[in-house]
Amino acid sequence: MVSSRLLFLLSAILMLIVHAIGQPKFLSYICNYNNGNFTSNSNYEENLNQLLSSLYSNTTIDYGFYNSSYGQNSDQVYGIGLCRGDVKPDVCRSCLKNSSGLLTQLCPTQKEAIGWYDLCMLRYSNSSIYDIMNSNPQITIWNTGTVSANYAAQFYDNLTNLLANLRTEAAAGDSLRKYAAGSGSAPEFLTLYALLQCTPDLSQQDCNNCLLIAIKNIPCCNGTRSARVLVPSCNMRFDVLSFFDSATTPPPPPPPPSTNTTTSPPSKGNQSNTSRTIIIVVVASVAFVVLIASICICVYLRVSSPREKAAETLTCSSCEDVDDEIQSVESLQFDFTAIRVATDDFSEANKLGQGGFGAVYKVTV
Ligand SMILES: *[C@@H]1O[C@H](CO)[C@@H](O)[C@H](O)[C@H]1NC(C)=O
Ligand SMILES: *[C@@H]1O[C@H](CO)[C@@H](O)[C@H](O)[C@H]1NC(C)=O
Ligand SMILES: *[C@@H]1O[C@H](CO)[C@@H](O)[C@H](O)[C@H]1NC(C)=O
Ligand SMILES: *[C@@H]1O[C@H](CO)[C@@H](O)[C@H](O)[C@H]1NC(C)=O
Ligand SMILES: *[C@@H]1O[C@H](CO)[C@@H](O)[C@H](O)[C@H]1NC(C)=O
Ligand SMILES: *[C@@H]1O[C@H](CO)[C@@H](O)[C@H](O)[C@H]1NC(C)=O
Ligand SMILES: *[C@@H]1O[C@H](CO)[C@@H](O)[C@H](O)[C@H]1NC(C)=O
Ligand SMILES: *[C@@H]1O[C@H](CO)[C@@H](O)[C@H](O)[C@H]1NC(C)=O
Repeated sequence: MVSSRLLFLLSAILMLIVHAIGQPKFLSYICNYNNGNFTSNSNYEENLNQLLSSLYSNTTIDYGFYNSSYGQNSDQVYGIGLCRGDVKPDVCRSCLKNSSGLLTQLCPTQKEAIGWYDLCMLRYSNSSIYDIMNSNPQITIWNTGTVSANYAAQFYDNLTNLLANLRTEAAAGDSLRKYAAGSGSAPEFLTLYALLQCTPDLSQQDCNNCLLIAIKNIPCCNGTRSARVLVPSCNMRFDVLSFFDSATTPPPPPPPPSTNTTTSPPSKGNQSNTSRTIIIVVVASVAFVVLIASICICVYLRVSSPREKAAETLTCSSCEDVDDEIQSVESLQFDFTAIRVATDDFSEANKLGQGGFGAVYKVTV
């Protein structure tokens, strides 16, 4: 009994270590187990790596949409990167770079995969994905906070109005950007903020349809104050707290292509860069392990049943901080349970693979 609990804690610590070594975690991700695997050191893997680095290192793009393809015939890889419309180009590239590293790590042999961060989405496939509306999977993430029951219906009313306006605005965007964000008033003196975005390769009609599908996923009428819906071709988010930068409508012009020192071959410089980051990460994760171990032991000593603790911490009140760095014991405990949930997701993603990208599942945060 006791030893099985210890084993559980140890495996949880291990998961946290694995988690800590990599980049910040995705909001959600899917490896498509149904679209074939590649072997390591294959042409496909090489093409995928080339494609991904060409996406996140293309400094001529300042509108947050990256589309490319690499390789030939059966080894051709197609990729799309999309940043939230208010994200600056350098942050966007950093986000896509992090996504590339994490997604290929989480889906080490899958030809097709997709991952979402707060600020960007990355997908790749062995079939063409450009200008094709893909509305599956649909992932809904919502927080536990609600408006009071008396006002739930009016809140939903105001929300659907705001979303309808923003949907029209986003779909009317051009081939570089299909994005709209705005706010409106809601009952109980709340302000509602919402953001909708499509990949801009979609037609106006496809974007509109994709957003309609996304909006349908919002849990109706129980007063949910904040939620997101993630779909490969579009996404939406609303909250009663402001979460986007309303000032950055037109992105700043990119710096002029000044010096020609930037066109150096990416060989030695990159290698020393990676070894440096690896050292930093290892040192950081050793410190992290010590921290986690002591916290886990405290939790273990304080709580007789880890399962009950998990259930408690799932209804955390600081769910807004999920994307943030781990700061306190509370959020560590949340992370702890989130990883258990995430591993469930992982096996569920396995099951989803049977239907390809055709299934729907929901994630509660
Ligand atoms: C993608 O790979 C799978 C499995 O190898 C294959 O069945 C499918 O035909 C490929 N798609 C394209 C467009 O080549
Ligand atoms: C791909 O690999 C996964 C395990 O990583 C396996 O479950 C799946 O059956 C493989 N798919 C194909 C088509 O070989
Ligand atoms: C960057 O992307 C643009 C638009 O897709 C493309 O025309 C250009 O060739 C790319 N530049 C590099 C260096 O890949
Ligand atoms: C996006 O990529 C596809 C496939 O490589 C290509 O056909 C298309 O022209 C690209 N579009 C843009 C805007 O770069
Ligand atoms: C990418 O990951 C690094 C840590 O690995 C982090 O410092 C950075 O903020 C991340 N970039 C974005 C845009 O999230
Ligand atoms: C809102 O409704 C959905 C489905 O109807 C449910 O799963 C979810 O738990 C509810 N959220 C809250 C905060 O009550
Ligand atoms: C919010 O909804 C109420 C009732 O449905 C309506 O009277 C009010 O005008 C709406 N406010 C906004 C900003 O849509
Ligand atoms: C940049 O290129 C120009 C010619 O194209 C050359 O005269 C100049 O020395 C180069 N500058 C550097 C820093 O390499």
